[in-house]
Amino acid sequence: MKKFLMTLALCLPLSAWAAPIADTHTDMAGCDACHDQGVPSEDLAYENETCIQCHGDLAALGGMHADHAGIMECTDCHITHEEHDANSGCANCH
Ligand code: HEC
Ligand code: HEC
Ligand code: HEC
Ligand code: HEC
Repeated sequence: MKKFLMTLALCLPLSAWAAPIADTHTDMAGCDACHDQGVPSEDLAYENETCIQCHGDLAALGGMHADHAGIMECTDCHITHEEHDANSGCANCH
């Protein structure tokens, strides 16, 4: 079942936002993928560091991501436990 879910997660089109990021990632690697021993930190520094370990930092991601290098964290735009469009906050600043 785990293997099936993993394949499914990897095949989903990235634009669909079909499921919360936390769900797709828990299927892949469990709560520990992002939380230190499964427990959320208060400042999310640990969680943001895990994103960078797997995906690279904002500069490495390039494009629009790189425009925010040094000024934002992954979790500023990606709300992981909700079905959330990461584009929805742009107008707050631009
Ligand atoms: C992709 C990384 C990731 C995974 C996997 C993940 N979380 Fe989280 N979690 C976060 C982040 C980031 C936050 C901060 C709030 C947010 O972005 O939703 C958070 C917040 C939380 C919170 C605080 C309450 C809340 O919802 O805001 C709890 C409790 C929690 N996670 C538990 C879990 C459990 C239990 C699992 C496994 C079933 C899990 N998380 C899997 C990244 C993750
Ligand atoms: C253990 C490695 C790992 C960690 C930690 C991780 N990711 Fe991922 N993430 C992946 C893989 C693998 C995929 C699926 C293939 C791809 O897009 O690279 C993925 C997919 C995604 C996607 C595409 C949509 C989806 O849900 O599949 C987003 C957005 C994303 N990750 C954001 C984050 C954020 C934000 C964090 C930190 C809170 C994070 N990831 C932490 C490995 C990871
Ligand atoms: C300024 C807001 C913002 C920040 C900060 C941000 N993202 Fe994103 N991210 C987005 C948006 C918006 C998308 C969706 C792109 C689309 O599909 O149109 C996205 C998509 C992604 C994807 C899916 C694949 C891709 O490149 O399109 C991954 C993985 C991802 N982000 C990882 C991260 C990680 C890791 C961080 C922190 C280092 C991060 N993001 C920080 C807004 C942001
Ligand atoms: C928290 C505030 C904030 C949010 C939310 C935000 N940005 Fe930005 N963005 C900035 C800042 C600050 C810069 C640095 C350049 C500047 O001063 O405008 C920037 C730079 C950029 C640039 C480089 C061109 C320029 O205007 O300088 C683009 C393109 C961009 N953002 C698009 C987006 C998109 C798309 C989103 C939503 C996914 C988004 N931003 C969300 C604050 C934000």
